[in-house]
Amino acid sequence: MRSLRISVTDRCNLRCQYCMPEPEYVWLPRESLLSFEEIGQIAEAFIDEGVNRIRITGGEPLLRRDLPVLIESLAARTAVEDLALTTNGILLKGNAAALKRSGLHRITVSLDTLKRERFRALTGSSDWDAVIAGIHAAADTFGALKIDTVAIRGTNDDEIVELLEFGRTVNAEVRFIEYMDVGGATRWSPATVVPRAEILEVVGRHYGGVIPIGERASAPAERFLLPDGRTFGIIASTTAPFCATCDRARLTADGIWLLCLYASGGTDLRRPLRAGASRDELRQLIHTVWSLRADRGAEERLGMDRQTTLVPLRALKKDAHLEMHTRGG
Ligand code: GTP
Ligand code: 5AD
Ligand code: SF4
Repeated sequence: MRSLRISVTDRCNLRCQYCMPEPEYVWLPRESLLSFEEIGQIAEAFIDEGVNRIRITGGEPLLRRDLPVLIESLAARTAVEDLALTTNGILLKGNAAALKRSGLHRITVSLDTLKRERFRALTGSSDWDAVIAGIHAAADTFGALKIDTVAIRGTNDDEIVELLEFGRTVNAEVRFIEYMDVGGATRWSPATVVPRAEILEVVGRHYGGVIPIGERASAPAERFLLPDGRTFGIIASTTAPFCATCDRARLTADGIWLLCLYASGGTDLRRPLRAGASRDELRQLIHTVWSLRADRGAEERLGMDRQTTLVPLRALKKDAHLEMHTRGG
C-alpha cells in the first residue's frame, strides 16, 4: 500500500454521463461525513502503514468548504511525497492560488470535450468556459497539470488529436481513459468503450509514431512519447487492467475504506475512530485488513459476461457507497 485516495465529498456540481447519469441520487448523510481533523487522523494511520502518495477526490472536492485547510495539514506530513487533487475544474480558477499556497503538489482536471455544446450534453452544465479558465489558472499557478479524458464511442472519440493539441497549449499531459463499467456508469455498454489499441492507432496515424515509455510502476496510466517529444497517457483499466500492481487504498467521505474501485463493500474506519481508537489501533486494523487483500476487481470484470453494467440500478439506489462519485473515481 502506497497510495491513498481520499474522497472529501460525494456531491458534485456536474452530472457526467459516465459517472452520474441518473436524475436522482441518494447522498451520504451529512453527519456521517468526516471532519478535516478526522480525515487527518485516518490519513496518519495510513501513512504509518506505508502510504506516501495522497490524492484528494470527490465527487467534486472543491465543493468542500476550506479545502486548502485540509491540504495544508496533509502537506505538513513529511512522509507524503506526492499530494495531488482531481477536480472537474468548474471552481478551480478562484481556488488555484490558495491550493498552491496550502502546499498541494499537483492537479488533474477532467476535460472530455473542447466543444461547448457537447460539454453541455455530457455534463449537464453550460460552464465549459469555467473549466477552461480553471485549466489555465492551474497551468499558471502550478506550471503544469494533467488532463483526464474519458473516451466514449460516438461521443468524443473524434476529439483525441484536438485534445492532445489543446494539452500542448497549457503544458498538460493528457490521459485518455477507457470508459469503465464502475458503479454509476449505468449507461455503459461494451460498444461504448474506445480501447487503448484504437487510441494509439489514431494518435500514431496523426503524429507519425508513438513510443511507449516503459516506466510504469503502479500508476494506472501507461505513458507514451510523440515524435515531437511530448507525452500522453492511456488508462486502459477496461481492456488491460493493472490490478497486479495496484497499491491503492480509497477512503470515502464518510470513512469507509475500500480495497478496490470495484469492491462491493469496505471497512468502516469512522466507527472505531469516533469510538476513540488510537492512531496505533487504527494502523493495526489497516494492517490486518490490507494483509488479507486479494482484490482484482477490474481483472475479474474482464473475465465476466459484460453485456450488462456492474451494479444494477436498483442496488445503486440503495447504497451510495456503490457509486463512482462516492468512491472517488
Ligand atoms: P496519477 O498519480 O496522476 O497517475 O493519478 P491517477 O491517474 O491515479 O488519478 P486520477 O484521479 O486522475 O484517475 C484517473 C483514472 O484512473 C480515473 O478514471 C480513475 O477512475 C482511474 N483509476 C484510479 N484509481 C483506480 C484503481 O484503483 N483502479 C482502476 N481500475 N482505475 C482507477
Ligand atoms: N470510466 C472511466 N473514468 C471515469 N471517471 C468517472 N467515471 C468514470 C468511468 N465510468 C473519471 C473522471 C475523473 C476520474 C477521477 O474518474 O473522468 O477524471
Ligand atoms: Fe463528473 Fe467527476 Fe462529478 Fe463524476 S464526480 S459527475 S466524473 S465531475
